[in-house]
Amino acid sequence: MKPVKKIGVLTGGGDCPGLNAAIRAVVRRANSYGYEVIGIKRGWHGLIYGETEPLTNFSVSGILHVGGTIIGTSRTNPFKNEEDLQRLLANYKKFGIDALISIGGEDTLGVAYKLSEKGIPIVGIPKTIDNDLSGTDFTFGFDTAVTIVTDAIDRLHSTAESHDRIMVVEVMGRHTGWIATFGGIAGGADIILIPEVSFDIGEVCTMIKKRHERGKNFSIIVVAEGAKPKDVDKYITSSNQVDEFGHIKLGGVGNFLGTEIEKRTGYDTRVTVLGHIQRGGSPTANDRVLATRFGVAAVDLIKEGKFGRMVALQCNKIVDIDISEPVKKLKTVDPDLYEIAKVFFG
Ligand code: F6P
Repeated sequence: MKPVKKIGVLTGGGDCPGLNAAIRAVVRRANSYGYEVIGIKRGWHGLIYGETEPLTNFSVSGILHVGGTIIGTSRTNPFKNEEDLQRLLANYKKFGIDALISIGGEDTLGVAYKLSEKGIPIVGIPKTIDNDLSGTDFTFGFDTAVTIVTDAIDRLHSTAESHDRIMVVEVMGRHTGWIATFGGIAGGADIILIPEVSFDIGEVCTMIKKRHERGKNFSIIVVAEGAKPKDVDKYITSSNQVDEFGHIKLGGVGNFLGTEIEKRTGYDTRVTVLGHIQRGGSPTANDRVLATRFGVAAVDLIKEGKFGRMVALQCNKIVDIDISEPVKKLKTVDPDLYEIAKVFFG
């Protein structure tokens, strides 16, 4: 293994708060070891098309608290066609990169895993507001998203109560309902619907009616965008658009639910789709700290010559796991946690 001189870093997939904190930590730690760092622009796109920029202590100054990612991101999949893959491998050599740090969720880390199988020295850093990567207790971005959802539910509570309304809040969460469950518990939701447990619209309406018969004049229902009604095997969406990894553009289940609830219960119902507000803006202190710990640890792995690994948080310690782990299995919502949420349903 030749000694490391230059590290490439990229951010792929959906952005999330804390990416800049991670980039800053990578650059600061790398520079302390005398490594040069280049930022690969817009995820794997930058390596296919040769778009990079040097990252120095100076260029990462002042970005810790800033949302988004200074090097951009995209959902580019280099394994979609052989030509892109060959361009990526050629550019990797051309830029003289000795090791790559790939900051991403299931798709970006999936590409990293495949490249690592091809012999590219790679270390992964887990990020996603969805918190659905196995092997790590938390991903950064999640805490900020939950804070935003909690704040939104708090605000919806007061207007729901004033108008005697049902409020349906659609939150992100494609395969898993971590944001819905955490945000729903924190915000005191009356029903939380998640992708892991298909829902019965009749039961949801019965629960709401019973609650109102008990004297409550409003209800808050949190639904993850990937939640499905029983006996329906596909997502409820308002679009057929699909990304390069084959994922359909979600969004629509909230409106479906709102319409059905109003029709079946007769209660005035409004729908709020939080959408990308959950991914934007400044990261919470927790996300800044986690992203910083991951960034530093990723460079330390490179220094130790440990590749094909992903940094992870387990029992509040930073560890490293095989990069295939988050790729092979999603981390779904802990059933015990969902049982706790259910104590407050209705
Ligand atoms: O990957 C995280 C996520 O925010 C999902 O929860 C959501 O389904 C998706 O990204 C939305 O992606 P896009 O930014 O492409 O609309």
